[in-house]
Amino acid sequence: MTSYTEIRLKEYYRQGKITPQLFDVVSAPVPEPEQGEVLIKQTHMSLDPAMLGWMTDDTESYIPPVQLGEVMRSNGIGEVVASKHSDFAEGDRVMGMLGWREYATSDGQGLTKLQPGVSEEMALSVLSLPGLTAVQGLLNIGKPKAGETLVVTGAAGSVGSIVGQLGKANGLRVIGVVGSDEKADWIVNELGFDGAINYNTPNLGAQLEALTPDKIDVFFENTGGPIQDDIFNRMNTHGRIVVCGMIADYQAEQPRPGPNWIPLIKQRITIQGFAMPDHLHNAPQLISQLMPYVEAGNIKYRAHTLEGLNSAIDGLNLFFSGENKGKLLVEL
Ligand SMILES: NC(=O)c1ccc[n+]([C@@H]2O[C@H](COP(=O)([O-])OP(=O)(O)OC[C@H]3O[C@@H](n4cnc5c(N)ncnc54)[C@H](OP(=O)(O)O)[C@@H]3O)[C@@H](O)[C@H]2O)c1
Repeated sequence: MTSYTEIRLKEYYRQGKITPQLFDVVSAPVPEPEQGEVLIKQTHMSLDPAMLGWMTDDTESYIPPVQLGEVMRSNGIGEVVASKHSDFAEGDRVMGMLGWREYATSDGQGLTKLQPGVSEEMALSVLSLPGLTAVQGLLNIGKPKAGETLVVTGAAGSVGSIVGQLGKANGLRVIGVVGSDEKADWIVNELGFDGAINYNTPNLGAQLEALTPDKIDVFFENTGGPIQDDIFNRMNTHGRIVVCGMIADYQAEQPRPGPNWIPLIKQRITIQGFAMPDHLHNAPQLISQLMPYVEAGNIKYRAHTLEGLNSAIDGLNLFFSGENKGKLLVEL
């Protein structure tokens, strides 16, 4: 009988680097699909910063943690290699929450077929969580208007790079905040952002002031970190702050306190946090909002692909060192 590998959570994450000690790498026999099920051979897995939260015993969050002993949770794409389900045939490419495993069975719930001509990288980098998050956060919450100024942090990341490009396509001035000169160069010269700030350089406030002569109307926050205060203090009256992520605080022993609230009153600023599990029932609507931009060639992306299931473990650390250049994927 053929066997396959899956990775189960052994210990909850607490502090520091993500290490192999947190996981059990287990070999198991490839299962037979039951009646009404398919067997999927996974080919591409998405890694996401949120996984760190799913690996803690925080039961207060928007989604329950992975239970100890369970296969680590993830979205992925695979090929149907055996089907006893009337809606799926052998050879179909499907996307769903397949987990950190080489093979998975599914009853079809939550499984979608990839359209012909759509690559696995495109599906996971744009047409799933990153693109849906950018649309929900920027278009539906941030409500950008042509001529306004948008500042997005984590701007070379999978969500931030799409947010900035949606902003440009809607006629905004777009400034991205990133952690390296290489990423600054990519968002300006490849993606067409109007400017970039490397937060690892001095005089962040002065750089921001120079790049936002009309101040800031929409702030799409992916990271937190010290530049948050500079951006917050440069918001225009009736500005909108969309809080998508705070990655600078995910591993911090002591999260940053954040800005003072008086400008919220003086400038009548709206701040809204959001979490995509609240909006995934609306995925077809969000995709239909995104597709015109994709079809018009407005959305470029880059995938950062790791090789082999085991690379997922250390791969998660790349989000926190900033070494991922684009959407982090694992090819199996
Ligand atoms: N609310 C939701 O439903 C939702 C959905 C998806 C994602 N998110 C959040 O959105 C954010 C971006 O996610 P993503 O998948 O697109 O990841 P990503 O931006 O592709 O990767 C994470 C990036 O965060 C940056 N970063 C790491 N530590 C940082 C620090 N201390 N200060 C500033 N930046 C830091 C790094 O870029 P640099 O090299 O530029 O520092 C790193 O490449 C994350 O916070 C994630 O949790 C939220």
